[in-house]
Amino acid sequence: MSETSFTPRVFSGIQPSGGLTLGNYLGAIKRFVSMQDEDFETIYCMVDLHAITAKFLEPEVLRRNTRELAAGFIASGISPEKSILINQSQVPEHAQLAWIFNCVARMGWMGRMTQWKDKAGKNAEAASLGLFAYPALMAADILVYHATHVPVGEDQKQHLELTRDIAAKFNHDYGVDFFPITEPVIEGAATRVMSLRDGSKKMSKSDPSDASRINMTDDADAIARKIRKAKTDPDALPSEAKGLDDRPEARNLVNIYAGLSEQSVDKVLAEVGGQQFGTFKPLLADLAVAKLAPISSEMARLMDDPAEIDRILAKGAEQAREITAPILKKTYEIIGMVG
Ligand code: TYM
Repeated sequence: MSETSFTPRVFSGIQPSGGLTLGNYLGAIKRFVSMQDEDFETIYCMVDLHAITAKFLEPEVLRRNTRELAAGFIASGISPEKSILINQSQVPEHAQLAWIFNCVARMGWMGRMTQWKDKAGKNAEAASLGLFAYPALMAADILVYHATHVPVGEDQKQHLELTRDIAAKFNHDYGVDFFPITEPVIEGAATRVMSLRDGSKKMSKSDPSDASRINMTDDADAIARKIRKAKTDPDALPSEAKGLDDRPEARNLVNIYAGLSEQSVDKVLAEVGGQQFGTFKPLLADLAVAKLAPISSEMARLMDDPAEIDRILAKGAEQAREITAPILKKTYEIIGMVG
């Protein structure tokens, strides 16, 4: 750990590459909201520069996704009064520090990233250079604020380890104690929400099957239908967590219930153990509708006034740059850039 003491500061981001899912909500956003009321400065980001690394997005689609994501953050309880809310491209220091980190990170480190391997697939030659460098930009997002804590779902763990490696190598190479060694915050019952159609696959906005996920814009009927049709097994629910071993679909639905009701899996199973899915699924559907429908209607209301969203993001960018500009300036000085 670093000797220097850093201001407790949280940074996290979500890609505006498609709609928000229940996975994003339970794995990340719920924790973003609660950390606002702990002893942290909080900065939350629409990572639009990351969103263009994979497939081509029409400009109109990127614009809409970015505003819709901002609306999703706010509707879920992120307050522009308590947190700095930004889109990444409006705070240029992210991309500037990313270049420095491209020169710190090693090709071998990047090539070992499982998300790179998954996304580039067998045809890495056709992938963008940006997709390969993606984790260095992510490290810059975090470290340009000297953020100490990063709440994420489990799938981002490896990227956060790389962020720590980049900070440590920079500090070591230049003989400084300048960048913090950031702590990942991967907590709660639902840090890895799985597809409703296949318990071995992550719930994802890029899954071709809409039935595999709950979108934060789904209405009550769609939420209830998707849960009713979710894949399960024929057995009753167990009364203890170890009874979910080798039952990925059952485990997933119980984790979702636990995440939405803010209870532990053990507590949930003490309540619903012994029930068949025919009884449990309607309970889960009612809970999901009660928690999510107000968010989706608030998102729709906010989307009626995109100019207000743009104002919030412009103000956020201004506040953010008060933090990022001096950190970038100091980084350049450490490196030996004259200016
Ligand atoms: P992204 O946009 O894929 O996902 C955003 C957040 O949602 C979490 N998440 C999930 N959690 C549980 N179950 C799921 N099925 C699920 N799907 C997504 C992710 O773990 C993540 O926390 N690289 C990041 C974005 C990013 C970032 C950053 C994050 C860019 N810079 C700096 C933190 C700090 C990403 O693609 O997330």
